[in-house]
Amino acid sequence: MKKIFKTIILAIGALVALNACAQKPAAESKDKDMKSIVVYFTHSNNTGLAAQQLAQLTGADLVRLLPAEPYSTADLDWTNEQSRCTQEHLNQTLRPAIKPLEVDFSQYDTVYIGFPIWWHEEPALIRTFLDNTDLKGKQLYPFCTSYESPMSEADATLQAGYPDLMWHTGLRFPASKEQIEKWLNE
Ligand SMILES: Cc1cc2nc3c(=O)[nH]c(=O)nc-3n(C[C@H](O)[C@H](O)[C@H](O)COP(=O)(O)O)c2cc1C
Repeated sequence: MKKIFKTIILAIGALVALNACAQKPAAESKDKDMKSIVVYFTHSNNTGLAAQQLAQLTGADLVRLLPAEPYSTADLDWTNEQSRCTQEHLNQTLRPAIKPLEVDFSQYDTVYIGFPIWWHEEPALIRTFLDNTDLKGKQLYPFCTSYESPMSEADATLQAGYPDLMWHTGLRFPASKEQIEKWLNE
């Protein structure tokens, strides 16, 4: 009788230990069959660096969105009402073309979407990507860089513009490994 009791206790102990091993940080605990990808747009590479950090930490693939027509310095002059970036902000139907992507998104469950904040929101080029990519049912994690604008403003415009997609709350970079892991665990 004592022996059976001891065996049961040992079995419970082994199960508890196994469960503890399974509790890894978010960045490492993704299901092995799940594939993730970091998709990003950057002009002066701040978001590019954030995207690389995120891909390294999560093991996700990495792809950069490039505008078919690159943005010149004059295009990005937000003090000029006629500039391309101001026009793309004022006319929310504009969708600047993206260079073709060689990515099959059907193999990804999780998509991290990075961009610089332009005019307190995601650049129009991100909307081009969202309009032309089937992201329904995927876990979407937006992230940004900015001078000072918080991520919450772009979270709001993304959720309002694409209410059928599965948005997680976004993260503004630069961010530490701990902040990123906390974000992905929420
Ligand atoms: C056209 C334009 C509009 C911007 N609007 C904002 C803004 O509304 N709020 C903010 O904090 N930063 C704004 N910025 C600054 C960028 O978000 C910031 O420099 C960002 O890190 C650039 O990212 P990148 O190096 O990946 O292109 C703007 C920059 C540009 C070029």
